[in-house]
Amino acid sequence: MQIIDSVPEMQSLAASLRSNDRLIGLVPTMGALHGGHIELMQAAKDQADIVVVTIFVNPTQFGPSEDFDAYPRGLEQDIRMCEEAGADIVFVPGVEELYPDGYSTFISEEKLSEGLCGISRPNHFRGVLTVVTKLFNIVHPDLAVFGQKDAQQAAVLKKMVADLHFGVRILICPTVREEDGLAMSSRNRSLHSTQRKDAAVIYQALQSAKTLYDSGNRNVDRILAEVTHTLSTSRRIRVIYVNFVDSETLEPLNELVEGRSLLAVAVWVDEVRLIDNIIL
Ligand code: PAF
Repeated sequence: MQIIDSVPEMQSLAASLRSNDRLIGLVPTMGALHGGHIELMQAAKDQADIVVVTIFVNPTQFGPSEDFDAYPRGLEQDIRMCEEAGADIVFVPGVEELYPDGYSTFISEEKLSEGLCGISRPNHFRGVLTVVTKLFNIVHPDLAVFGQKDAQQAAVLKKMVADLHFGVRILICPTVREEDGLAMSSRNRSLHSTQRKDAAVIYQALQSAKTLYDSGNRNVDRILAEVTHTLSTSRRIRVIYVNFVDSETLEPLNELVEGRSLLAVAVWVDEVRLIDNIIL
């Protein structure tokens, strides 16, 4: 496994792989890798000849009062995990490598980015799209793999790829969960043990919606009230949003559309922000 930290080196390696007709699968990450990332790497391995994992905590997707400095980091362990998962290349640029002094170019999507997380994190998706575009231009992947836990990110990225004619296939992998249902996330590392226990309520809340739905209830307000109620059983949890939106357009839903009704949740568990979702 090769570890690369320079943009020109990564670009020339990618160019030579492509000239040898090797299919490149990209797994962009911010490190603090977990089982969900391993599944993304496995999916990339299944569909590409070469798997490139990028590890970069991207400052432009964090707001000024957000947890950029506190975001969990652990490069040595991450590199070990990439090696064990069979990655071929790990690209680990420094902040100066991607955003040198005087950097001033950004990519925005102006519709799907606006709701859900976009309300409380106004420049978040601009930062995500900018860094993913840069990674596409550096690695020139045939396919890029992301997780369904970040459902809005997945929809926004697909929209950018379509709107800007990127020749990159976007593959979205199912959310990987801990035994008690908590979606795997790097931010789970920031939870202490009682917060971690309470965080399981997020999945219970989503399951309470599914139980109502499976029993034939299609009343959006009733289901949202049930989710909010279940979340409120933990005093550590503060709801940021609980919404039904169309899973592709992210338009708010007043009526559920089978197989496309994305129930998306964002909460604070004390000072740790977590998101999760299911599609009904
Ligand atoms: O999902 C993430 O970890 C990040 O948003 C991404 C896609 C790696 C961009 O920094």
